[in-house]
Amino acid sequence: MKVTTTSLPLEKIECEALVIPLFEEEVKTVPETVKSFLAKCNFTINPAEFSGKLYETFLISSNPRVLLIGTGKKEDFDNRLARNVAGAAIRRLEKSKIKSVAFDSRIYSQPEVIIEGAGIGEFDQGIYKTGKDKPSKIEELIICGKLSLEEIKKSQAVLESTNWIRSLVTEPANHLTPKIMVENARRIAREFKLEIEVIDEKEAKRRGMNAFAGISQGSHQPSFMLVLKYIVDKKKPIFGVVGKGITFDSGGISIKPSEKMHEMKLDMAGAATAIAFIKLCAQLKLKENIIVVAPLTENLPGGGALKPGDVVRSLAGKTIEVINTDAEGRVVLCDALTLVQKLGATKIVDLATLTGAVIVALGSEATALLGNKQDFADLVIKSGAESGERMWQLPIYPEHKEMLKSDVADLANVAPSRGAGVIAGAVFLQEFIDPKNSWVHLDIAGTAWLDSEKPYMSKGATGVGVRTLLKLIEQI
Ligand code: BES
Ligand code: ZN
Ligand code: ZN
Repeated sequence: MKVTTTSLPLEKIECEALVIPLFEEEVKTVPETVKSFLAKCNFTINPAEFSGKLYETFLISSNPRVLLIGTGKKEDFDNRLARNVAGAAIRRLEKSKIKSVAFDSRIYSQPEVIIEGAGIGEFDQGIYKTGKDKPSKIEELIICGKLSLEEIKKSQAVLESTNWIRSLVTEPANHLTPKIMVENARRIAREFKLEIEVIDEKEAKRRGMNAFAGISQGSHQPSFMLVLKYIVDKKKPIFGVVGKGITFDSGGISIKPSEKMHEMKLDMAGAATAIAFIKLCAQLKLKENIIVVAPLTENLPGGGALKPGDVVRSLAGKTIEVINTDAEGRVVLCDALTLVQKLGATKIVDLATLTGAVIVALGSEATALLGNKQDFADLVIKSGAESGERMWQLPIYPEHKEMLKSDVADLANVAPSRGAGVIAGAVFLQEFIDPKNSWVHLDIAGTAWLDSEKPYMSKGATGVGVRTLLKLIEQI
């Protein structure tokens, strides 16, 4: 998608379709510029046909065609909706096979979100479709308004990262193995001059990462603990990002029901986001130090798999009773969190499709956030709000820490009762955080994947998280 800007009046712009966003309040009293333009197209809005409701569309068959898109009530319009509106417009126009689109940014305080929204709207998960089923694509986006080349480039980079995450998450697990994830990371490291270390299973065991290696045992695919480093100033603190990278989660011996099991290819979304993020930071030449650690493995019930009740010794030295092998995320992540701290990270965010419980609590509308320091949690929530990714904090009370007692080991990987499932996951992870460090856990199991399509996004992978991380690093 080629992006350009123009300051020409609407009627002078050459394109196949022009998008005009309108608030509900504006349908009856249309702003002068829009009104005179529509008059030139011989069109007047009939409020019975177009009311300006959020994501409502009305396509006028003029030349070029004009798409009115509702932006809802003025007072509710924020950056998140602004981005989504662009996505909804593009998705509507793609249905009409339109290739070149101009977008009136009159109501946008940050017109660059049009680029992100349009590109996000355009993504389609039919990556293995051949021939006539191939989705139509927008080739040219013209933004009517002011944007610097730098702003355009940055938004395009953010967009590419988001859709890269989505394409990786969409890849089926037979195509996206831990080894392929590593190959992707190596390519990125080469291109953006990142330091890379790939720790294989044998080496992981040798170094004491037996929790990670334990989960890896059930699969025939080789597993890796991936480390990527972007170090710009040795004197500055290091920001650590840890991403869950289970390329397929069958549940292991505690096997999942087969209904919807195919969706468990999404379980590497955290790792994909962490890799996309460090690449984006290098691409944008940011001045902060970042280390990414991603445990990459399948969770399968092979003959060597961990069995419920098995005990493993983690890199931190704590012993873990694996009561449920389907709570594998926390088991691989604990070694990754220990490692990232050993490598010097003092502010850490982990992203993980960790629990089904988060879907029960928040659906796909917000990421659950938990942490050990309120000021850092607040900063992540704020970064999320500013980048259109909603976060909802859940508490970790001292009483919650009682949940994971084990009769035989230092801690169990699940609680005896089903309650507070999201918190239980975070409580486990917090056991591996040095209290001096700041840590936030993002449970993205609900937000990384959409079960049904939205007006602004296809169903499937969403690419959540990378925009929040970027905002965060810009103000850390
Ligand atoms: N990968 C799943 C969580 C998940 C569920 C992600 C649905 C996306 C959609 C995770 O490994 C898991 O299976 N968690 C268990 C934990 C339980 C055994 C304590 C769960 O949520 O059932
Ligand atoms: Zn699981
Ligand atoms: Zn999982």
